[in-house]
Amino acid sequence: MIIAIDGPAASGKGTLAKRIADLWGLPCLDTGLLYRAVARDVAARGFRLDDAWAALAAARSLDPAELADPDLRTPQAGDAASIVARIPQVRAALLAYQRGFAAQPGGAVLDGRDIGTVVCPGADAKIYVTARSEVRAKRRFLEYMARSEPVTYEAILADILRRDERDASRDSAPMRPAPDADLLDTSDLDIEAAFDAAVGLIKRKIGQ
Ligand code: DC
Repeated sequence: MIIAIDGPAASGKGTLAKRIADLWGLPCLDTGLLYRAVARDVAARGFRLDDAWAALAAARSLDPAELADPDLRTPQAGDAASIVARIPQVRAALLAYQRGFAAQPGGAVLDGRDIGTVVCPGADAKIYVTARSEVRAKRRFLEYMARSEPVTYEAILADILRRDERDASRDSAPMRPAPDADLLDTSDLDIEAAFDAAVGLIKRKIGQ
């Protein structure tokens, strides 16, 4: 069974994807980490993030086994990722790995922006997770505060709005719900309620 979880930054899709994967005993891939790692490698080699040649080289040489780097989780890494993610050659280079991950025996859960539309258009269930931008910024802000990271709510909200705009307006695989995706707005739901709602949507889709 392949489950696609898409949605904008800080919508809660990552947490939902992991919990859904645990429930069904499936492997889970956070595809945002792939783009974050490409951006990190481009910058580490001293190139501009919008340098298509350098970004393609970084995507081709990426080792997906090395995505545990905590530096990939920062707001700066997310912003940089959304810049390399606009480059069609980068997206094409990361596609085979993502599709291979999805094709494991038993299936997988993948979360990102284009899983339901491009990576796994034939997924058994697709959920597009949204939440109002102010709610997403507040959740992220509290997360960073808990880790004592020096950020302000205003900076996080600005980052989220900038990334939403960049991810949704790019030509190549823009962020958007697949026509057959179920929409899940988590603005007024806590994580338990969001999880229950997501499980209900998936069960209905797969006829359980
Ligand atoms: O999900 P995330 O915040 O870790 O993603 C970081 C950036 O990577 C996001 O702003 C756009 C890009 N991305 C993408 O273009 N396609 C995906 N499937 C996942 C992430």
